Amino acid sequence: RKKKLIDEIYKVNKLAAMYFYNKLFSEEGRQALAYIKKRGLTESTIKKFGLGYSPSQGDSLLKFLKEKGYSEDFLVKAGLLSKKNNSYYDRFRNRIMFPIIDVKGNVIGFGGRSIADTLPKYLNTPETEVFKKRKTLFAINFAKKSQQDKFIIVEGYMDAISLYQAGIDYVVASLGTALTLDQAKLIKKYKKNVIIAYDSDEAGINATLRGLDILDELNLNIKVLSIPQGKDPDEFIKKEGVEVFTQLIEKADSLIEYKSKIYKKNLNMDSPQDRILYIKKIARDIAKISDEVKKEVYISVAAKIAQIPEDAVRTEISRFVNSKI
Ligand code: GTP
Ligand code: MN
Ligand code: MN
Ligand code: MN
Ligand code: MN
Repeated sequence: RKKKLIDEIYKVNKLAAMYFYNKLFSEEGRQALAYIKKRGLTESTIKKFGLGYSPSQGDSLLKFLKEKGYSEDFLVKAGLLSKKNNSYYDRFRNRIMFPIIDVKGNVIGFGGRSIADTLPKYLNTPETEVFKKRKTLFAINFAKKSQQDKFIIVEGYMDAISLYQAGIDYVVASLGTALTLDQAKLIKKYKKNVIIAYDSDEAGINATLRGLDILDELNLNIKVLSIPQGKDPDEFIKKEGVEVFTQLIEKADSLIEYKSKIYKKNLNMDSPQDRILYIKKIARDIAKISDEVKKEVYISVAAKIAQIPEDAVRTEISRFVNSKI
């Protein structure tokens, strides 16, 4: 019975995706299409990702799907309708629609971006029988097919689509949340090299630090790409171009290099006290590494940054190891 429900949700989601897509290219979707084009997406990209538009009336998808024989209660279960005071209405209204597709090609849900100033900026399908946000990576359906032996993880729909359009076909988006363990496991199923390229604001940095630890625990090879000047990957690639972005990929930091950078931001490395503070912080990170070769490399990097002998770093690390932190 559950299998049947799941298949029905896939089916109705696909219908809804086609509905939204057609609306985008109709008179009703004129503003929405203009918005997407202003953001630099080509028609071929729009088609590739199956982007769409959800009309603003509040009952247009409802009418369309009821005519096809779907019940309102089922459509609520699918996450396409909301119910309030015993009446039903379209969950997504006046939004650019991003279908979210799983590794098997099923439409499992949607993200909808507001084009008016309506909040929230992005609205997703709620948790349903098929949509589990914590287990989902946007664009994984494309990225898993890439010839490249890596993924690049970004925050948002637009980041993923922009990079893909620029030829970076191994991009996935973690949908705003800091990366979860389930998402990291999904990554590991396909590739062992990962580059995190979150927004360079404070939220993005914190999400990067948490994501790093999760990916590292699964023994993935991690790099961090820092986008300069408080931008996100979408804005950056549009302004600077794909060549400059590719250079950033090549220069991406290892875990310890990145953490060093972040720690050093608030420290004055000319001061002996601050150098000690830095070593204490980074030693805690290095102590967690089980791979001995990796550990040695990081010890030498950390020692160089703090301008102290490697043995001093080792001593500090052994304190953490001994106290089992
Ligand atoms: P644009 O303004 O369209 O470029 O969006 P963005 O992707 O740059 O936005 P931001 O960096 O704020 O968010 C990154 C991602 O987090 C988005 O693509 C969404 O997946 C998610 N997100 C952002 N805002 C919201 C929100 O208000 N609600 C929910 N559920 N998710 C959000
Ligand atoms: Mn935000
Ligand atoms: Mn952000
Ligand atoms: Mn953005
Ligand atoms: Mn952003």
